[in-house]
Amino acid sequence: MDIRGKAALITGGVSGIGLTTARMLAAKGANLTLVDVNEKLGDEAVKSMESAGAKAVFVRADVRDEAQMRDAFDQTVNRFGSLDIVFNNAGIATPQPGYTRIKVAQWKPVLDIDLMGVVLGCYLAFPLMRENGGVIVNTASMAGVYAMPGDPVYCAAKAGVIHLTHSLAYWSKRRIRVNCVCPGVVDTPLSRVSTREEAAAGRAGRPVSKMLQPEAIAEVVLNFIEDDSRVGQVVEVRPSGVRVVEPRRPPKHRE
Ligand SMILES: NC(=O)c1ccc[n+]([C@@H]2O[C@H](COP(=O)([O-])OP(=O)(O)OC[C@H]3O[C@@H](n4cnc5c(N)ncnc54)[C@H](O)[C@@H]3O)[C@@H](O)[C@H]2O)c1
Repeated sequence: MDIRGKAALITGGVSGIGLTTARMLAAKGANLTLVDVNEKLGDEAVKSMESAGAKAVFVRADVRDEAQMRDAFDQTVNRFGSLDIVFNNAGIATPQPGYTRIKVAQWKPVLDIDLMGVVLGCYLAFPLMRENGGVIVNTASMAGVYAMPGDPVYCAAKAGVIHLTHSLAYWSKRRIRVNCVCPGVVDTPLSRVSTREEAAAGRAGRPVSKMLQPEAIAEVVLNFIEDDSRVGQVVEVRPSGVRVVEPRRPPKHRE
């Protein structure tokens, strides 16, 4: 896909990986809807993009709220004339010290935002892309590929995003390509808060040298958008490089 003039909606688009990707898409001529719950960062992001010559709008919407998200999608089409790219990227980390030591109300939002928010984003994008096609990129995590006993809820949410992406590969018949990026640890506000909480809970933090910069993830996302041959792909990104995660296939039926 040629990004120039295309309309892109990015959830979690005002910070970290989402904001970096938004800036790179804007530099290639995309028109942007930044969806997030953080209005202050949203206004700042739009101002800085507009002053760089891009067309961008901020919509305050919670990815858990169907009505708010429907409105964000509709605003994109009304303003830019189409919906071509969706980056389902908003996410939160599980508060530490973790699963069994925090209340249900503290870990449930991880599933609602990190998994259900992506399910809803794909669901709302589909009818708007059905006629002209489009590209959806979902953000999972290496935690969705490899089990992490310290954070099973986050792992479950991100594994769900991976399996959702593989399962939606058939949408390519309608020219909607769905792909997924699984970052390792990236230097963003999310990982900085988690690292501080883990340290406070007595667990060792990660060496900064092992951290990725958000640009490394944004480059993978842009490649998913631009390369029309990429369909139903899940890619993990670590400091040592990029690897495709193969889908699980059902075992062959035996009589
Ligand atoms: N930073 C990492 O190490 C890392 C590693 C693997 C995966 N990820 C994933 O990358 C994605 C982006 O994270 P980031 O590191 O850029 O973090 P970040 O905190 O910089 O950005 C996340 C954004 O999502 C927004 N958000 C949170 N809840 C929301 C909601 N309910 N509705 C709408 N927006 C909401 C936040 O306001 C924030 O702007 C997340 O899905 C995260 O799980 C991050």
